[in-house]
Amino acid sequence: MLGNFTYSNPTRLYFGEDALDGLNKELPNYGKNILLTYGGGSVKKSGLYDEIVKILKANGKNIIDLPGVMANPTVEKLYEGCKLAKENNIDLILAVGGGSVCDYSKAVSVSAYCETDPWDKYFLKMEDVDNKIIPVGCVLTMVGTGSEMNGGSVITNHEQKLKIGHVFGDNVFPKFSILNPTYTFTVPQYQMVAGFFDIMSHIMEQYFSNADDNTSDYLAEGLMKSLITSSRIAVKNPKDYEARSNIMWTATWALNTLIAKGKSTDWEVHMIGQSVGAYTNATHGMTLSAVSLAYYRTIMNAGLKKFARFAVNVWGVNPEGKSDAQLADEGLKALEAWMKEIGVVLNLKELGVTTDMYEGIADGTFLLEGGYKKLTREEVIEILKASM
Ligand code: NZQ
Ligand code: ZN
Repeated sequence: MLGNFTYSNPTRLYFGEDALDGLNKELPNYGKNILLTYGGGSVKKSGLYDEIVKILKANGKNIIDLPGVMANPTVEKLYEGCKLAKENNIDLILAVGGGSVCDYSKAVSVSAYCETDPWDKYFLKMEDVDNKIIPVGCVLTMVGTGSEMNGGSVITNHEQKLKIGHVFGDNVFPKFSILNPTYTFTVPQYQMVAGFFDIMSHIMEQYFSNADDNTSDYLAEGLMKSLITSSRIAVKNPKDYEARSNIMWTATWALNTLIAKGKSTDWEVHMIGQSVGAYTNATHGMTLSAVSLAYYRTIMNAGLKKFARFAVNVWGVNPEGKSDAQLADEGLKALEAWMKEIGVVLNLKELGVTTDMYEGIADGTFLLEGGYKKLTREEVIEILKASM
């Protein structure tokens, strides 16, 4: 294990078909004023909104409604939430939705009492929080990001053409998250599989680094195998509880800081994907699937042994008589076959990328050093071209 580290995760999880009962246990810990954040309407359609309002009222809470948190939440929406939170002296932000609503709620929680521009402070300058933080709780309805048990918050600034994530410390993690796999049954297939690939990408971003024999990598392999097995079932039958519950749990563990411990991590696919998102507003997981194969083919030789291990341990490729290069290649082919099987987007054109965007997307892509190879700006452009 690399270096020294601290591990603690303060998010209490309530998991399973009766998970919403957990809300009754949590609410007495907070004051009266609840900011209820949600998206474009799926929670009203499913009836979950009414159920939650009923529980809040039964617990004597004042509800301040904040609808319309869009997929890939914007900085303008953040400012709106900050104003509302401050004006209403909010005691708890309750996020009901997917990663976007959870991320957004964390952004509001650190920004409402921020005396300078939060976009500038947290997303451009990456400064730490030094003001009051409003606690956040989540009721998750869409699986993928891990936002339910981490400090990540990704905000898009369309004017500046930047989509940036700040990974806050555990003082910003949700205090609790309600994970009921049946809530994810209504997620449209496109979003569902985008979420599956997002999970896979989170694990790969943390797996493809270092050459040591690290426990975190074994955990990552187990999570990938569970995801692959369950995703194959879920694409055919989205209401398969066992598959969807396994995937929900896998997504949480894929990005709740555990498998990053004792190693460096990559995150370059996310850097490219986020920049693509800033230009296209495309679905997060699809921005990752569209560029991943070209990216991994670009860096494969720099981490050959790990890519060979990926082929054997994750995809069950038979290693007999094969070189590391052959195995690594077969591993990426197996990844590609799975991506086709679950139906993720494999090219940027489909997401609305045009050739005149290459330069801007490359400019908005942060070049990181934690993976097997630090890319150059030219290599980013080559990856974009190869992903069209
Ligand atoms: O807005 P509504 O009507 O609720 O519809 C949403 C939205 O259109 C819909 N949806 C969610 N749950 C549903 C449902 N539709 C029917 N039934 C349900 N049960 O799905 C659409 C997408 O939701 P969204 O929350 O945007 O998806 P996701 O969970 O993938 O979140 C994406 C955001 O998270 C960020 C991404 O960049 C993106 O902004 N990320 C956050 C991370 C973190 N916190 O650590 C890491 C990730 O890498 C990612 O960057
Ligand atoms: Zn992601």
